Amino acid sequence: MKIFLVYGGKSAEHDISILTAFSIIKEVYYDYYEVEPIYITKSGQWIKGGIIQQASDVENSESLKLTVSDKAHFITGVNQSSEGILIQPSDIKEESAVVFPVLHGPNGEDGTVQGLFEVIGMPYVGAGVLASACGMDKIISKQLFQQAGLPQVPYVPVRKVQWLNDQESVFKQCEGTLFYPMYIKPANLGSSVGISKAENREDLISAIELALRYDRRIVVEQGIEAREIEVAVLGNDDIHVSVPGELVKTVDFYDYDSKYINNDVVMQIPALVSEEVNVRLREYAVRAFQALDGSGLSRCDFFLTSNEELFINEVNTMPGFTQFSMYPTLWKNTGLNYGDLVEELIQLALRRHQERLSFQDND
Ligand SMILES: Nc1ncnc2c1ncn2[C@@H]1O[C@H](COP(=O)(O)OP(=O)(O)O)[C@@H](O)[C@H]1O
Ligand SMILES: [Mg+2]
Repeated sequence: MKIFLVYGGKSAEHDISILTAFSIIKEVYYDYYEVEPIYITKSGQWIKGGIIQQASDVENSESLKLTVSDKAHFITGVNQSSEGILIQPSDIKEESAVVFPVLHGPNGEDGTVQGLFEVIGMPYVGAGVLASACGMDKIISKQLFQQAGLPQVPYVPVRKVQWLNDQESVFKQCEGTLFYPMYIKPANLGSSVGISKAENREDLISAIELALRYDRRIVVEQGIEAREIEVAVLGNDDIHVSVPGELVKTVDFYDYDSKYINNDVVMQIPALVSEEVNVRLREYAVRAFQALDGSGLSRCDFFLTSNEELFINEVNTMPGFTQFSMYPTLWKNTGLNYGDLVEELIQLALRRHQERLSFQDND
């Protein structure tokens, strides 16, 4: 069976996606699969690099890894043109093939590319259209979590028109329900882009203006002093949850630079939490996954305060997936290695696709 590994993309996490693609390509079970990498450039062009039939087909993968911010870094097999072939997104339609999209952020994990795979009738790994779109949108996610009875920090949604027409009402709402510090975030982005922390009214104004540069809807959130605990979720209807991991704080908050440039992230796995907290983490993660109608995978992120209050922060439907990322490392520590995880995700994709087809047969 062929795997179309779709990576790169227009988001800020383009380079992370390339590293993920390398990690997957090295671990695919080539007895059963061949891989055709599809690289999406930062400007959104789709480029096909050639078929890979074993891990060693990837020429100089280590050196390629180092050139991720250069121009031509799509993955090609040995002796294949390093130029690649420009294709239309719908050209990847093929019988008995599965798509493995490893794209983050807008156009990758927000349901748009998933919609393309649905329209052309291809099975694909990970969350569907609905879960991707809802998981990406911080305001919609919060509303769904609220309905599912999940605890979260207080927040105020703000629209651009409201800010432009009536700033006083925004101050009144934010300062009336929340206290400083507050976190201000665009509703739809991820990877900490456009997010800032406000200690006072002056900060709040610049933080809102910044977030509104990225989205017409933003959220102002109660800032809390808390540990950041994450669990990995895997499954469709039968949902499995990993041991918890902690992002040990070496910085005040994980902004884009600390996450991707300075590598300030230290993981503690398993996270040192009480059994009681562990039980709640698992239960909330399953409930959040179901509230979004998740499938395949997601990473569920929490805040844990010193008096053991647990708040859900967000669900990432396409979490970081390099060999060193939290999601696969959580599974490794739960007894599932990277290769088996990749295989399980493909099987979950195929099963969901089969199930969809069986419903269509009833029409
Ligand atoms: N309400 C909050 N209180 C304290 N820290 C926060 C809060 N919201 C976000 N942060 C910090 O900002 C980081 C990024 O915020 P997050 O909501 O996870 O956005 P993203 O979708 O970009 O990952 C978090 O990992 C955390 O360090
Ligand atoms: Mg986050």
